[in-house]
Amino acid sequence: MASPRTVFTVAAVQTEPVFGAVEANLAALDHHLADVGADLIVLPELCSTGYSFQDRAEALELAETFPEGPLSQRLLAWSARTGGMLVAGFAEREGEQVYNAAAVVAAGEPLGTYRKLHLFGFERECYDRSEGPLRVFEHEGLRVGVMICFDWMFPEAARTLALQGADVIAHPSNLVLPGWCQQAMLVRALENRVYTLTANRTGTEHRPPRPELRFTGLSRIAGPDGKALADAAEQDAAVLSASVDTTVSRCKTIASGNDVFAERRQHDYRGWAP
Ligand code: ACM
Repeated sequence: MASPRTVFTVAAVQTEPVFGAVEANLAALDHHLADVGADLIVLPELCSTGYSFQDRAEALELAETFPEGPLSQRLLAWSARTGGMLVAGFAEREGEQVYNAAAVVAAGEPLGTYRKLHLFGFERECYDRSEGPLRVFEHEGLRVGVMICFDWMFPEAARTLALQGADVIAHPSNLVLPGWCQQAMLVRALENRVYTLTANRTGTEHRPPRPELRFTGLSRIAGPDGKALADAAEQDAAVLSASVDTTVSRCKTIASGNDVFAERRQHDYRGWAP
């Protein structure tokens, strides 16, 4: 019997969507993805619509249902071509509810969505409160947990995914704080001994009454040793890639037999003990 596959290629794509120009944004993604054949590809948060919805009505109008909507259909086509998994941020509509979500597909099939738990700033005026759930999707032996942008600030999110067995955390983002997340993701990767792919966007948006926002780029792939495996610049589109070894992400022993998951003292972490 052949041994299970343990090495995979992963890619994070940095883009600059134009607010509301869904078809143009999808065409730009077509262009960026044309030569990318990775087992996992991660795209930014809200990658087909842009970020700064003026109100909930506008979010609902530009949102799509999964997997019928235009971004979902493109994801299915791209993943049918690569045979791998794609994770991409989008505004998800379900009836009259709207969520800041990520779509997950693999090899031409829809796997599901994750709905962002920690909404940032004015997002709370545009989206419904989500129940997540934080979950791990598996395709051909690679286990991918999903969180979105500001979830990074809550170490419990990455830890919950790692405890569910994630090898990789896919992290679609539209980051606006000054580089904090990109730094923190080295620690999220190290403390959980997983790979992380933060696919951020670049450019600016100014849609009153929302403040002008400058997105910080610097998309990053980090490894279980807390080191950056690939980094993008602050501006410009980019495709980052790296190799993932699941024998590394599934080993939680760091020194002298210290297994950092087995040695957790859940009963002493008062107030939070999954
Ligand atoms: C963010 O969560 N998009 C800042």
